[in-house]
Amino acid sequence: MRQTLTFLGIESSCDDTAAAVVRQTARRCTILASEVEGQTALHADFGGVVPEIAARAHAERLDHVVERALDRAGLKPGKLGHGELDGIAVTSGPGLIGGVLSGVMLARGLAAGTGLPLLGINHLAGHALTPRLTDGLAFPYLVLLVSGGHCQFLLVEAVNSFRRLGGTIDDAPGEAFDKTAKLLGLPQPGGPSVEAEAALGDPHRFAFPRPLLDRPGCDLSFSGLKTALLRARNSVIAPAGGLRLQDRRDLCAGFQAAVADVLVEKTRRALVIYRAGNPAQPACAVAGGVAANQTLRARLAAVCASLDTRFVAPPLCLCTDNAAMIAFAGIERFRAGLGDPSDLIARPRWPLDTAAPALLGSGKKGAKA
Ligand code: KG4
Ligand code: ZN
Repeated sequence: MRQTLTFLGIESSCDDTAAAVVRQTARRCTILASEVEGQTALHADFGGVVPEIAARAHAERLDHVVERALDRAGLKPGKLGHGELDGIAVTSGPGLIGGVLSGVMLARGLAAGTGLPLLGINHLAGHALTPRLTDGLAFPYLVLLVSGGHCQFLLVEAVNSFRRLGGTIDDAPGEAFDKTAKLLGLPQPGGPSVEAEAALGDPHRFAFPRPLLDRPGCDLSFSGLKTALLRARNSVIAPAGGLRLQDRRDLCAGFQAAVADVLVEKTRRALVIYRAGNPAQPACAVAGGVAANQTLRARLAAVCASLDTRFVAPPLCLCTDNAAMIAFAGIERFRAGLGDPSDLIARPRWPLDTAAPALLGSGKKGAKA
């Protein structure tokens, strides 16, 4: 096996068209290029990602984005199969099937044309392995994946071994932030706007529920919080004849505090399970767009510190959907000799931990594996 490996990664499972080139040497891993084209504007009028629009945009843009990534990485397209690249990795699920298919078809074509090995990557594995790319974490470590489409605790035991300790039984927290923003007349994406308002509000004024805290385990639920927010909003709108600025700030603060309380307590429980296995270098990483939330980050850092566990928060561009994580997962799997051709079938659902019971919900960003 060569010491230095350079992989192209392709990601198109949701609403980001992405391509990246990652190089791993004996000493370090470098992202030579990472290109992401979002589709927010295309879906803005529809209140969520429209699968057909997403698939068409991926099909139209993917080859341009790949070309740009190769160019930024200084690779010559005509020489990919002659030493410029060692392999291609593509997200083959889970996600919106039209987008996944666009990526897999392009990658198959590139692999056939260049003769390079092609690996199908589970999108969630890409997120879960990212802390090894950014911080070189040793197995086993804990990951909280928290975004607009996912929410789960994963115990990462090896490149191909993941144990799901719990996950959302309905919505993802990012969806709840987005819905909250919509109900309060704030701009999308909702997370940043709700966080900004929350900073000026009183988190104690409204009594929001803390769903599933009364039940053991690490599963989470966020759909009830949306309903509670709607009721609280209506209760202040009626007497005032509209939503006052301070009411909005207090609603945001109360909502954010409820989400953080739930995530922090479930993280504590997941940490206890993880620590019981006596990991040599205990570490817990966060991934997904909601990881941008400063209140949440600070509280997760505190709960990790209280349980003597290193807290790792990769840079935000590697927390949200990107192709560098897919290229890196490709390198990791290639080195481990895990290039199973059956991974190349495009799959809408693809749980990382097949032993864990299936998660229910299916949010605005597609099926949750
Ligand atoms: O990982 P991501 O870019 O896309 C997927 O969901 O796959 O995450 C986007 C989500 C959105 O729902 C957005 O509202 C949320 O992350 N988000 C935040 C913040 N920034 C983004 N949620 C809470 N606080 C933030 N500061
Ligand atoms: Zn994702």
